[in-house]
Amino acid sequence: MANKVLVIISSMIEEKNSFSNALVKHFVKHYQESHPEDEINYLNLNDVAMASKTLTTHNFNTFFNEEDSDKYINQLKSINKVIFSSPMTNYNVTSMAKNYLDHILVADKTFSYKYSKKGDAVGLLTNLKVQILATQGAPYGWYLWGNHAKYLEGTWKFAGAEIAPSVLVCGTKVQDAHEDDVKLRIGEQDLEKGDSLPNLGPEKTMEKFEQHIKKAAQEF
Ligand SMILES: Cc1cc2nc3c(=O)[nH]c(=O)nc-3n(C[C@H](O)[C@H](O)[C@H](O)COP(=O)(O)O)c2cc1C
Repeated sequence: MANKVLVIISSMIEEKNSFSNALVKHFVKHYQESHPEDEINYLNLNDVAMASKTLTTHNFNTFFNEEDSDKYINQLKSINKVIFSSPMTNYNVTSMAKNYLDHILVADKTFSYKYSKKGDAVGLLTNLKVQILATQGAPYGWYLWGNHAKYLEGTWKFAGAEIAPSVLVCGTKVQDAHEDDVKLRIGEQDLEKGDSLPNLGPEKTMEKFEQHIKKAAQEF
């Protein structure tokens, strides 16, 4: 059966300078090669008004409306796979990514406590498999209080989705190459160390990590 895949982009960095966008490009290229029947669609959160709306006391009564909320929930219910891309921004996902999640995480639409056993909700997006593609300026493990890939994994799992091992490209802002600094992590495995990713730039970084990205894309 052909899958419907939605690629959600949440980086605010200009496309040509963006490690996230280069990672998405390489991952999707390999995904298409190994899943030629699948249909790929894009949702760039920079281009939709909903992702710039933050929940406040002033808009609480209108925030979860048809256009900003139900439309995107229905979109998630009509597909099989999500590729969700986010750079770390102040130890978390981007504001656009958070605004998107705030609009689609709605009780009794994407999760429910009604039928849950003690201690957990029931996720209603069981039709979805989710691939997180994350980047961060610091090498992995520098800021132990911030792990946006884990946050995204937990959030999508809460909504019922199956989670693929996350791809995390780290150290995109650290010029000096220390041999112990982790630069590519997939799932729980540290796969590449050293290298100065700012010197390599987005495109050459993904070319260097190509075999790992290809394997992750094939397995998704
Ligand atoms: C406003 C802002 C805040 C950031 N905060 C963090 C941070 O808390 N931790 C970190 O490791 N990198 C941080 N970075 C660096 C980005 O995660 C990194 O440069 C990322 O690769 C940029 O997005 P891109 O992948 O689209 O290029 C921040 C970048 C910006 C612009």
